[in-house]
Amino acid sequence: MSPPLILGIESSCDDTAAALVRGREVLSSVVLGQAELHAAFGGVVPEIAARAHAEKLDLAVEEALSRGGVTLSGIDAIAVTAGPGLIGGVLSGVMLAKGLALGLGTPLIGVNHLAGHALTPRLTDGLAYPYLMLLVSGGHCQFLIVRGAQAFSRLGGTIDDAPGEAFDKAARLLALPQPGGPSVEREAATGDPARFAFPRPLLDREGCDFSFSGLKTALLRARDAIVAEKGGLTRADRADLCAGFQAAVCDVIAEKTRRALTLYLSEHPAEPALAVAGGVAANTAIRGALTELCAERDLRFTAPPLALCTDNAAMIAYAGGELFEAGAGDDMTLAARPRWPL
Ligand code: KG4
Ligand code: ZN
Repeated sequence: MSPPLILGIESSCDDTAAALVRGREVLSSVVLGQAELHAAFGGVVPEIAARAHAEKLDLAVEEALSRGGVTLSGIDAIAVTAGPGLIGGVLSGVMLAKGLALGLGTPLIGVNHLAGHALTPRLTDGLAYPYLMLLVSGGHCQFLIVRGAQAFSRLGGTIDDAPGEAFDKAARLLALPQPGGPSVEREAATGDPARFAFPRPLLDREGCDFSFSGLKTALLRARDAIVAEKGGLTRADRADLCAGFQAAVCDVIAEKTRRALTLYLSEHPAEPALAVAGGVAANTAIRGALTELCAERDLRFTAPPLALCTDNAAMIAYAGGELFEAGAGDDMTLAARPRWPL
């Protein structure tokens, strides 16, 4: 028997997304971004995001159905991000999913956005449980041992900013376009990472926790020192600042991952696998450092394709499918949750 066909809906941040997934097959994945709506404000404005989701969600679903060549009556279950995230957007998605589920008489499954990211390597690479997951995005940063679709243990995480947030703030400090990660990475490509000695926060402290806010302050100081001396930043200054910043983030992530792997492997020596997910996993330098780390230790390393690293609804549909097949489900009391730790 073929696996159930799941419609996934995602609207927890600034991407309005819908997807059709059957088992590990992605029939369609539609992501309607909102970057241009938020660009003038230097970050995601929750009210603007919520309104855009309310306007675009049904379009995203229609497009996903049409690209997948499926009608609503062909869907076996509806999976929707029920948190964590910006509450206005999450509510829009949950209300649409409830309306569809009620109207069609189809099962409804609330999915944790973080679980969606954490299970993505199973969708893309068929990775078996358990594995160590490094989830690094604009809103999140944590190490998770993933033992099942609802079985996660957290080994550590950020005590202040998430790394994507740090990249976004860095870009703002240097007047580069948002989202900051790709902008900083682009500039860093031609920069000298050794020109500025940026700190490697929390490396002196034991454990797998991160801190990125001090790094942002160091970048601000370095920028202001150049401006005070020369009256402004040249293209090369900006590239060197970006390269130094990215190298510091990369070093910290690599060292903390080394520690998390040691902890993970002490519990699961027979399952040597590391996976990465979240928007920051799109960064080539960070991917490279993790690939090298795993090669050194003969570990399997899985990084989903970029389109499935950043926010999307295929990961929600896939996670919903695993939950559905395990007998999980929700009813019309499903709540939208701004906070929902795994
Ligand atoms: O997972 P995601 O799409 O959204 C959530 O935060 O859930 O991640 C978006 C974040 C943004 O902060 C963005 O700057 C960062 O991922 N990002 C990157 C890169 N591409 C996206 N950070 C570093 N390097 C990149 N190439
Ligand atoms: Zn995300």
